[in-house]
Amino acid sequence: MRWTKWIHLTDTHLVPPGQLLYGSDPQARVHAAVSSIAAEHPDAQFCLVTGDLAHLGEPSAYVALQRALAELPMPVHLLIGNHDDRVAFRETFLGAPVDDSGYVQQVMRFGSGLMLMLDTNEPGVAHGVYCARRLKWLAAQLQFSRDEPLWIAMHHPPFDVGLPSMDAIGLRDAQAFAEVLAPHRHRVRHLFFGHVHRPISGSWQGIPFSTVRATNHQVALDLHLAHEIPGSFEPPAYAVVLVDPHQTLVHNHDFLDDSRRFAL
Ligand SMILES: [Fe+2]
Repeated sequence: MRWTKWIHLTDTHLVPPGQLLYGSDPQARVHAAVSSIAAEHPDAQFCLVTGDLAHLGEPSAYVALQRALAELPMPVHLLIGNHDDRVAFRETFLGAPVDDSGYVQQVMRFGSGLMLMLDTNEPGVAHGVYCARRLKWLAAQLQFSRDEPLWIAMHHPPFDVGLPSMDAIGLRDAQAFAEVLAPHRHRVRHLFFGHVHRPISGSWQGIPFSTVRATNHQVALDLHLAHEIPGSFEPPAYAVVLVDPHQTLVHNHDFLDDSRRFAL
């Protein structure tokens, strides 16, 4: 097959089984996403989940997520976000790769190149942090990977997205992050992130990026509101990513959509 396919899923915000979140059942939403992926994209090489796996980091929420994701026919690679608890996450997902400092980040090799999966979680705060230790790890991975094509995945975007309520809790160390990345920018094919619960794409310093709606709840499109995050229940989605040596394509899929299909 021409393409390497993978799935981008984000911000599942699981709560303990039986509980609702903002009136919706995050676990049911994940089950629906998993069923859709298993039925429609069983040939995907892996599923990437870019953080906020659990809403409040409860151990039972991670166990519920683990059970739900076990139904997928492909490997799953998890990142943590600001809503996650790194300790509780690691106690449930025992095999989750971490770096030498215990951050949930890794370099994953796949057919087309390398995926850098980064940990921007900082306990107790909603904004993202990419501290000196993590920067040092990233610099070493970039150095080690020489000239190979790179894809990056992280929870917090390292730039503003034009939503004041979300930009207030963006990545705080964005400048230092950009400086470490700068010499390698030409070989970064795409950057995937979560956090903002909206479909957003564009480019940053020449690097194409995208994110996708979350599975449970969304952030409404409000380019002015700053003092609170405007929640919404726009349709959930996951992204289907297709990669070959010359292209990275990102298709958003509203997996709950049951509207009638017809011949055009
Ligand atoms: Fe989130």
